[in-house]
Amino acid sequence: MSTQTKLVVIHGPNLNLLGTRETSIYGTCSLDAVNESILKASKEIGMKAAIHQSNSEGAIIDLIHDCGAEDILIINPGAYTHTSVAIRDAIAGTSVSAIEVHLSNIHAREEFRQKSLIAPVCKGQICGFGPDSYLLAVMAAATIVRERENG
Ligand code: DQA
Repeated sequence: MSTQTKLVVIHGPNLNLLGTRETSIYGTCSLDAVNESILKASKEIGMKAAIHQSNSEGAIIDLIHDCGAEDILIINPGAYTHTSVAIRDAIAGTSVSAIEVHLSNIHAREEFRQKSLIAPVCKGQICGFGPDSYLLAVMAAATIVRERENG
């Protein structure tokens, strides 16, 4: 596994409330617990992970701009998924390999959540598996690295 490649994980707005927020949809697992399992999974595949959470669109855009060319971005943009042309443009503009993640299955929810402005500029989208969506994204990151190594 490439040592230069780092996983950059961004949790968007309201995900700091995980564990107490709308538990019937998002479950009772805290963001700290999710982050611990992301760190464990990334270690297992030999990658370093830098994890961030922000409620602010501009801060999320700055974090995307800070990604290195080799980095892989795992992003749960929260509600910005459905509204933010600016986050979409940041991913498209930096050409970072991005994986979109959601805890809930956004396609099975309200109509306004079924459209992602972010998905078209990502390698793929994983949703509906609760905190395990992030672990599946770490596995997808390993696939991206393998594809790069195989040219
Ligand atoms: C979410 C889904 C979004 O629609 C919502 O606004 C969130 C969480 C998810 O992880 O399921 O904040 O991104």
